[in-house]
Amino acid sequence: MEYKNLGESLKRELNAIAKERVKRSMRPGIDYIPASGKLMFPQDLLAGVEAVLDGWLTGGRFNREFESRLAKESGSLRALSVNSGSSANLLALATLTSPKLGERALKPGDEVITVASGFPTTVNPILQYRCIPVLCDVQIPNYNIDPDLLEKAVSSKTKAIMLAHTLGNPFDLDAVMEFAQKYGLWVIEDNCDALGAKFDGKRTGSIGHIGTCSFYPAHHITMGEGGAVLLNDPELIRIAESLRDWGRDCWCETGHDNTCGRRFSGQHGKLPFGYDHKYVYSERGFNFKITDIQAAIGLSQLDSLEAFIQKRRQNHAYLTKRIRERLDDVVITDTVHPKAEAAWFGFTLTLREKHAGKRHALLQYLESEKKVGSRLLFAGNILKQPAYLNMPHRVVGGLENTDRVMTETFWVGIWPGLEEEHLDYIAASIASFFGR
Ligand SMILES: Cc1ncc(COP(=O)(O)O)c(C=O)c1O
Repeated sequence: MEYKNLGESLKRELNAIAKERVKRSMRPGIDYIPASGKLMFPQDLLAGVEAVLDGWLTGGRFNREFESRLAKESGSLRALSVNSGSSANLLALATLTSPKLGERALKPGDEVITVASGFPTTVNPILQYRCIPVLCDVQIPNYNIDPDLLEKAVSSKTKAIMLAHTLGNPFDLDAVMEFAQKYGLWVIEDNCDALGAKFDGKRTGSIGHIGTCSFYPAHHITMGEGGAVLLNDPELIRIAESLRDWGRDCWCETGHDNTCGRRFSGQHGKLPFGYDHKYVYSERGFNFKITDIQAAIGLSQLDSLEAFIQKRRQNHAYLTKRIRERLDDVVITDTVHPKAEAAWFGFTLTLREKHAGKRHALLQYLESEKKVGSRLLFAGNILKQPAYLNMPHRVVGGLENTDRVMTETFWVGIWPGLEEEHLDYIAASIASFFGR
């Protein structure tokens, strides 16, 4: 990190303040143990201050560096920062609706294959662009699409597949990519919970046509609010850049003009010849950009990404051991595809059939009596959510596992702020509910 604004004495002073801000007490049994959290270091906060003192505020030097480092680390040609993972998903799908893609563009009524169990903003863009989500069941215990359902899901209207790597555990990218190639479908990987995961040695998010990330505090790195879209295809990159930045045709960076040298000498649409290229719109866009303050914090957090992922893996392995040795007959724990390396978001548990119906009491016990935080697998079965009761959709087969996830599945923390003492305590607390 290059500090232009912070002299040594200011850095020392800010460092002392920042150290206080990032301190956290999590004594098992006394303090609350959250299911997710951010791990910040003083240098992350200092980076944000440095960006404030630049006075530039909108995307600038920190954003350029953040995007280029994220692209490199995620194995993509281009990473485009946006203001949330949900915006990233919307931008990803919107990119595939661009008229510039001709026949390949998604149009209202086209079908997009996805799952019914997951986070709502993986499905929302499909509905927002008047496409039809085709909902498949998931497998337990990896909570990803059952690849055997893909052939049953496809129809003459199918144009794309949009799936999340659930809680950091990659879906079967071999099966999905092979199927997509066979039918000429687009693939969007919602990688919001899986930054750093791999499939067959490649980073997830870079294998499909578009990948998305979230940098909300629960995620692998944070900038408060934020996200990114990962792309490899130059045509899609151009469309996504334009859509993120109001739909403009011009590609000048903020604060720069006439990079193309043809600012006043082009013919665009039916505009008068020479209409200022800065105000030519070739897409119906958004403004999803981030500030340089967010980018600076994100850039600093990227320094910790690899260590964070490793700690998540180590914590997940440790808790798996602790839970399986005591509770294997009570709960089902995660499994991973043989070609995948997960970048765990949480530690997922599903109650075995003989304990069905106990989740509600268990989670209340953990929360109130043990001070152990838990989370559900987001929306459960999205079709049962109030906002989605009347949504246009098609279901493939039944959604038995999805309904089971809705009633019997939950997750607890393995985020990098947790140590073995917390994980021991989480396992012991679940065990004590079952009288172990
Ligand atoms: C799979 C998935 N996709 C998208 C999102 C949305 O990300 P954001 O909260 O940054 O909008 C989340 C949020 O946690 C998520 O879990």
